Amino acid sequence: MWEDVPAGHLHLRIKRPPSAEDLLDEAEFADDERLPYWAEVWPSGRVLCGVLSEMHLAGRSVIELGAGIGTGAMVAAMRGARALSTDWYEAAVDFSRWNARNLDLDMDACVMDWRHPPAEVLARAPYDLVVGADILYEARNGEALGLLIPALCGPATEVIIADPRRPDARAFVEGMQSAGWGYDREDLPVPGRIDETGAIVHVHRFRPPPLKHNEPVVI
Ligand SMILES: C[S@@+](CC[C@H](N)C(=O)[O-])C[C@H]1O[C@@H](n2cnc3c(N)ncnc32)[C@H](O)[C@@H]1O
Repeated sequence: MWEDVPAGHLHLRIKRPPSAEDLLDEAEFADDERLPYWAEVWPSGRVLCGVLSEMHLAGRSVIELGAGIGTGAMVAAMRGARALSTDWYEAAVDFSRWNARNLDLDMDACVMDWRHPPAEVLARAPYDLVVGADILYEARNGEALGLLIPALCGPATEVIIADPRRPDARAFVEGMQSAGWGYDREDLPVPGRIDETGAIVHVHRFRPPPLKHNEPVVI
């Protein structure tokens, strides 16, 4: 199905599967508790698009983690960034590539499980900007991201994570702060359809601690 995604003063029209539920795979869930959350654009994803639409990104390198269809990376590419969309579902990456091509955007996409980042993604670090939307919904996610994100960062990297106030996000934020990362938060309204996660999304911004940008953070 086609979906119109508001992105501040920009706008995306993307193609995505009509129903995430139809993609449920019992074997995958039994193996690694994988659920096909990638197939929707979540409220936090729309907020992240709005945030990115207002940033000066020309020539900057941007990686989106848990990107699903990759709308954040697409908006970054529209703003002139060298954008990379990543997700652990191959089908998500396929949709991401298809949509970027359809929108005539120069954007890369690849499969990445946060717990096993591919060498080519690490080789492109440090990224100027690391972003993600609604990726802190389970404790294991924060634990994996605390180890991965520093490996993607340089001293001047900015990390932006939009989150619909998931309970497990708190441990991640507190862990990053305890490890010395600079932090601030903006609370933004969800544009368009609101679901059970609420009308407000927290936009967490982190800056690496001086001289320790690559040190893993244990959450
Ligand atoms: C709630 S969805 C959010 C999708 C998109 N960012 C958005 O906001 O519309 C969470 C995303 O994280 C991805 N994800 C979860 N665990 C992951 C992991 N270990 N490695 C990579 N991606 C993961 C899922 O496949 C899914 O696309």
